[in-house]
Amino acid sequence: MNTQTVNSLMAAISDVGRDQTRGGYSRPVYSGAETTLREWFSAEATARGLDVSTDANGIIWAWWDLPGATDTALSRRGALVTGSHLDSVPGGGAFDGPLGVASALAAHDVLAAREASGALLRNRAMAISVFPEEEGSRFGVACLGSRLLTGAINPVRALNLRDANGNTFADVAAANGMDPAGFGRDEAALTLIGDFIELHVEQGKGLNSEAHTDHAGRGPALAIGDTILGHGRWKLSFTGQGNHAGTTLMADRADPMLAAAQMIVAVRATASAQDNARATVGRLEPVPGGTNVIASRVDLWLDVRHPEDAVTAMLVQKIHGQAQRIAAMEGCAVFLTEESLSGTVHFDPVLANALAASVRRTVPGAPLLPTGAGHDAGVLAAEVPTGMLYVRNPSGISHSPEEHVENDDAHAGVQALADVLEDLL
Ligand code: GLV
Ligand code: MN
Ligand code: MN
Ligand code: MN
Repeated sequence: MNTQTVNSLMAAISDVGRDQTRGGYSRPVYSGAETTLREWFSAEATARGLDVSTDANGIIWAWWDLPGATDTALSRRGALVTGSHLDSVPGGGAFDGPLGVASALAAHDVLAAREASGALLRNRAMAISVFPEEEGSRFGVACLGSRLLTGAINPVRALNLRDANGNTFADVAAANGMDPAGFGRDEAALTLIGDFIELHVEQGKGLNSEAHTDHAGRGPALAIGDTILGHGRWKLSFTGQGNHAGTTLMADRADPMLAAAQMIVAVRATASAQDNARATVGRLEPVPGGTNVIASRVDLWLDVRHPEDAVTAMLVQKIHGQAQRIAAMEGCAVFLTEESLSGTVHFDPVLANALAASVRRTVPGAPLLPTGAGHDAGVLAAEVPTGMLYVRNPSGISHSPEEHVENDDAHAGVQALADVLEDLL
């Protein structure tokens, strides 16, 4: 039997996709690094006797079938599924995604040992799943795999998404052995998922907040997911007059960089004036992007999040209005495009309470916590009961090389995940 700790599994992939320029990891979907990780996962799952396949939407499934199941297709219906993703943001941390995948493998090992000793009797099959393009770092739409699976994104739109080099998702998918005609809502795959559980590094300071820390300032190792903040992405394209940096008088310019600069400041002011709102400009692309060139266009990507979907919509409307005024002041124009939008998710309360009861056997103070980060579990929540476990991240920093999980907490995560899965199997 293959038995590995989560820490040894994480150590085995610690060199894959390191970003020498940004620090941390850059593992864009269907790139060399992410492909290496997908192959690593498939090999690890196969070594455990799991039945590995990739579905029409690029999601990997590793099946731990019921012992003695004769009709596997039938016995997989309503299975317990756990997993996460292996792609990363540019210059991301080691844990966002891979921790959930490695923990699922390690939890499987714990459960397989319990089954072998006769201590675990299962009522249903289990699968570990790996979702592609959770971060949307390459094609712009986060949770692309789960959105395709559930039909939350139109496959025609998905196929036409482009990466920074102009490659369409259709071409990249085809180059990776997938049939672009096969993308879209997959009823058969959805009937296989009875419940979905995702373990993830915590991406904020919830566990280390005053409400949960002990006298030494240390929070519990784990939390249970409660809600996911509604969030979306928009692109604001400011267009002006491309021109020569040396010959164009300051008064004669229509410089979209100036509009973008004012926009970034306005975004902060607008979000800061609204309780619980978060708005970010983390990506800016001047075209053509030359030091001695006044840009002809600047694309600015906006990420807005708020617990109330109507407030998110109001904030974006407000920001769009500001963009139009700023553009006009600079002699420029602006176009707004919505790239994705996800409403606030309330995880299934019955499942969340069951998870809490299981987790608290080993981590007594584990709280239910909201998160501002998006996840495939949030997309799947529209279809099946889903739940999440968060592993303590001492600084709360994420989407950064400094993202961190302590070995003991990762281990506690696996023990708790194994207990959660056992109770649901
Ligand atoms: C993904 O991690 C997101 O929340 O943007
Ligand atoms: Mn993630
Ligand atoms: Mn992430
Ligand atoms: Mn995420």
